[in-house]
Amino acid sequence: EFDAFTYDPGFTSTASCRSDITFIDGDQGTLLYRGYPIEQLAEHSNFLEVSYLLLYGNLPQKAELENFTDSITRHTMVNESLKNFFNGFHYNAHPMAMLTAVVGSLSAFYHDSIDINDPASRDLCAQRIIAKMPTIAGAAFKHFVGEPFVYPKNHLSYSANLLNMLFSRPSEEYKISPVAEKALDQLLILHADHEQNASTSTVRLAGSTGTNPFAAMSAGCAALWGPAHGGANEAVLRMLEEIGDVRNVAKFIEKAKDKDDPFRLMGFGHRVYKNYDPRATIIRDTCHEVLQEMGMENDPQLELAVKLEEIALKDDYFVERKLYPNVDFYSGLIYRALGIPMSFFTVLFALGRTPGWVAQWMEMVADPEQRIGRPRQIYTGAAKRDYVPVDKR
Ligand code: SDX
Repeated sequence: EFDAFTYDPGFTSTASCRSDITFIDGDQGTLLYRGYPIEQLAEHSNFLEVSYLLLYGNLPQKAELENFTDSITRHTMVNESLKNFFNGFHYNAHPMAMLTAVVGSLSAFYHDSIDINDPASRDLCAQRIIAKMPTIAGAAFKHFVGEPFVYPKNHLSYSANLLNMLFSRPSEEYKISPVAEKALDQLLILHADHEQNASTSTVRLAGSTGTNPFAAMSAGCAALWGPAHGGANEAVLRMLEEIGDVRNVAKFIEKAKDKDDPFRLMGFGHRVYKNYDPRATIIRDTCHEVLQEMGMENDPQLELAVKLEEIALKDDYFVERKLYPNVDFYSGLIYRALGIPMSFFTVLFALGRTPGWVAQWMEMVADPEQRIGRPRQIYTGAAKRDYVPVDKR
């Protein structure tokens, strides 16, 4: 057993902040949300209960969970005028471009009613953001596929509502598969927070200026989009498509090892985990279950991913560098099986990460010691010199 209060990861001097929310031990492959192991939350909890835990620090009592769930449910609608915003995008605009823009645009509706120094106002912002992300994601999807927007339905669970807003049509109601609802809810839990990753640090830095939380979350979406971060789940599927056949796996493993080749094994490696990402273990098992349930157990992409993992984990280059599958390696295969197009995978990562971003923002703005973030640099530029007029240069 470790004692989190004496555990020194050895980098306290460069740590960007202190936080009570999420603990990672990269060597052990440990991930705790407010002290609870991710494995237990993924098995026993649900996304809104985990969101409450991240925001408020403890698992809710039954009544607290019911009130929180009810409040989230009642904030799922977005201003009708946002339809005009969506209609301004070209039909094939990248969904992360739409999400980043529209999340930031929520500032236009609420910025004059937010008091980030008032806990009740912070709570309302938190619940509005968590509630509206699926509605915005659903609207982006419908714009992308050229179908009419589907409004949230209050009788559905958070994940069922998301699936319905993605796939329901006026011509036919979407039959929500319990397997899909459970798998999606678990994926959202597994993505909910991850300490000071790039997008969460971006939210904290933006929020530390006192800007409104909607603008800070939009900055988080922008950072998450990158293929080295949340964009990796989409990049994994594109990589599997490029590899194409199990017989090509060895060739691509060699490409990934070649320093002169920009190709990297997407979904492999991590800034912190030097062991198996605990989320990847859970997602891999869920991936097999979901594809089995959907009669896709012989899916060639799954076979390719399993073969890639098998070969890489025996290869000295990956073993020596402690490169293991991360959260993004198998998640895209599940999203694809649920009918979600590749370009939407990172949108779902953002939906999952939202309670983490919001919890970290709340923790930061509530801290009386908090000051504006101001990273410093190591200057490597020119020494001081005098100006020379252009005709004398
Ligand atoms: C996420 O921070 C978080 O918590 C992020 C995240 C979250 O929940 O928020 O966990 C989500 O972003 C997961 C990561 C998703 N990205 C990918 O899967 C993209 C592929 N992975 C690589 O780009 C890379 O592993 C990074 C970006 C994730 C980490 O990059 P680092 O910090 O450079 O990795 P490293 O220091 O461990 O690298 C050590 C060595 C280097 O080679 P050498 O200079 O020692 O010879 O391993 C090499 C790297 O070049 N390496 C890889 C590799 N990842 C690292 N070589 C081939 N393929 C890879 N995927």
